[in-house]
Amino acid sequence: MDLEVTQQHLLRELAARYGVAPASARVVFAPYRICPLGAHIDHQLGTVTAMAIDRGVLLAYAPSAAREVRLSSLEFAGEMRFELDRPGAPQPGDWGNYVRGAVQALTRKGYTLSRGLVGVITGPWSEGGLSSSAAVGVACLLALEDGNALRVAAEENILLDQAIENDYLGLKNGILDQSGILLSRRDHLTLVDCATNQHELVPLTQPVGAWSILLAFSGLKQALTGTDYNRRVAECAAAARILLDAAERSEAKALLGCVRESEYAEHKRKLPHPLDLRAAHFFSEVERVRQGVMAWSKGDLPLFGRLMTESGESSIRNYQCGSPPLVDLYELLVRCPGVYGARFSGAGFRGCCVALVNEAAAQQIAEAITPAYARRQPALAAQASVEICHSEDGARFLAGPLGQSIKDEG
Ligand code: GLA
Repeated sequence: MDLEVTQQHLLRELAARYGVAPASARVVFAPYRICPLGAHIDHQLGTVTAMAIDRGVLLAYAPSAAREVRLSSLEFAGEMRFELDRPGAPQPGDWGNYVRGAVQALTRKGYTLSRGLVGVITGPWSEGGLSSSAAVGVACLLALEDGNALRVAAEENILLDQAIENDYLGLKNGILDQSGILLSRRDHLTLVDCATNQHELVPLTQPVGAWSILLAFSGLKQALTGTDYNRRVAECAAAARILLDAAERSEAKALLGCVRESEYAEHKRKLPHPLDLRAAHFFSEVERVRQGVMAWSKGDLPLFGRLMTESGESSIRNYQCGSPPLVDLYELLVRCPGVYGARFSGAGFRGCCVALVNEAAAQQIAEAITPAYARRQPALAAQASVEICHSEDGARFLAGPLGQSIKDEG
């Protein structure tokens, strides 16, 4: 994705569709994110890792005096048009839900929106796994805040974007996606403690060979709200309640992150199936994150990659969130020479697998995976693809008066 080329294209579209002169337009970039370690533990208040990549959502816009939002997309037909006071209820599968949700989240938080916007948005690979939905939400929040001269810190934008998903769309997810999108810095691991919302950027301090991020798309597209995502969240909570009761602790909210490791070790035999598996995933993933951060800071990509692969295995066996095409991709990737490690990207019900690879071998890996996957999943082969990308800074304005990193604001 060439950001400069895409930006120029969007500016031309904004001029053609809404008559906005490129000189007065603003452009915001919200990258996609990967989560090498820490899968499915954010909603249980675990500590997770994330990284933004050099692909994402670009939104070219101009604030408008009208109290109206008008947004169109390069990928999807139709225009999203509504008044700021009436964002309306979410429509199933509608890309405009995120901008409606952004208006609602800001308003409910007490922000006054007096100016709407006109805009054109683009984002490749909305098929899942890279958090394109959170990227759209973040881009819309930032554009609305900019247009209304609101200074909102990244930490608050994380919670506002989470509110779009939790309160407006009903997905019970955590803060992994938004944190990766807003806080990341190139070649750093973004470590997010979901219990305190504190984060740390962990650099690759020791010299390592060149590495890339390989994305292997399954061709499977489906919204997370229609999957077992929320059911797994509820199973984790049920496991936490049993463990806390056994430890005679009366926490109001039962989440696995509230259970001490010693309590888990003492009472885990009391968990019925499959709650025992969900808890096993949580506590083993917490440990993998701990070891992974040390491996990353020492530049030990082979060890970091092995932990990713183990995390993938735990997602399949314990969290049971994969779908057969994703499991196929995972199995193919982890056997490829040059792959340090691989796992499902994101929730794992659809979308892609992510692999950390030796850059010198990346092209060869891509060429090996494509026909092998087509043999396993012939019906999906035409929509499947492999992309090689790199780590990138978090969300930022590319054009416009702010012209600065989102992290410097607020
Ligand atoms: C989705 C959710 C995140 C997180 C991941 C799995 O991307 O939106 O909150 O739970 O799945 O790690």
